[in-house]
Amino acid sequence: MIIDVISLMPEMFSALNYGITGRAIQNQLLTLNLNNPRDFTRDKHRTVDDTPYGGGPGMLMKYQPLKDCLDDIYNHKSIAQAKEERTSRNNSKVIYLSPQGKRLQQSDLKKLTGWEHLVLICGRYEGIDERLIQQEVDEEYSIGDYVLSGGELAAMILIDGMTRLLPGAVGDNESVVNDSFYDNLLDYPHYTRPAEVDGHKVPEVLLSGNHEKINQWRQEQSLLRTLQRRPDLLDDKNLSHEQLEIIARLKNE
Ligand code: ADE
Repeated sequence: MIIDVISLMPEMFSALNYGITGRAIQNQLLTLNLNNPRDFTRDKHRTVDDTPYGGGPGMLMKYQPLKDCLDDIYNHKSIAQAKEERTSRNNSKVIYLSPQGKRLQQSDLKKLTGWEHLVLICGRYEGIDERLIQQEVDEEYSIGDYVLSGGELAAMILIDGMTRLLPGAVGDNESVVNDSFYDNLLDYPHYTRPAEVDGHKVPEVLLSGNHEKINQWRQEQSLLRTLQRRPDLLDDKNLSHEQLEIIARLKNE
């Protein structure tokens, strides 16, 4: 997968050179291109921002440097194909990170891994000229109901969350399948050695070697946590008969 980032602070993305994302980049599962709109300014001061029409506080990112940066990305040889296919919106998407976007969910990350090429536009200041969003952006995502000082951290979160879903990025694929939210449920609790620490024991069932019982316990713990901490997640989930029974029992207890 190829991701082009448009950011005034491309250095921030060096955080992705570590861990699973770092390995995915090294193994070429992920190609990360960093593009700075300041390189596409046309005045001697290299101006990327301006005051908002109608007045009000703060500055906005100008249309032209962003548009030229975007055009440059789609003219780049290695993704010429992506450009061609972008016309039919088949294989490339332009995403803008902002608090006004759709709240990013695990299911969105999964869906985004289906594209060959993504462009992530990171806003700074009060945001970007609305005309660029209208003309060029396919999807707008927010990572939560709070305001960050720029889209970079949000873009990194999107890239990180998405990379771990790319086939081969995480050594043990099962750990991704069991992640919280993968199936709209929170993860069950995990324990490692020793079996007792400071007087606190690991739940007996995990030491039993009985995998059926262990799976049952984990499923129940997932449902219990979701019920206690994020009951809203259960509204969007098609629960099996067995899960409904477990929930009914948990509510009684
Ligand atoms: N930029 C600033 N705040 C943001 C948020 N909550 N999500 C995505 N991008 C942002």
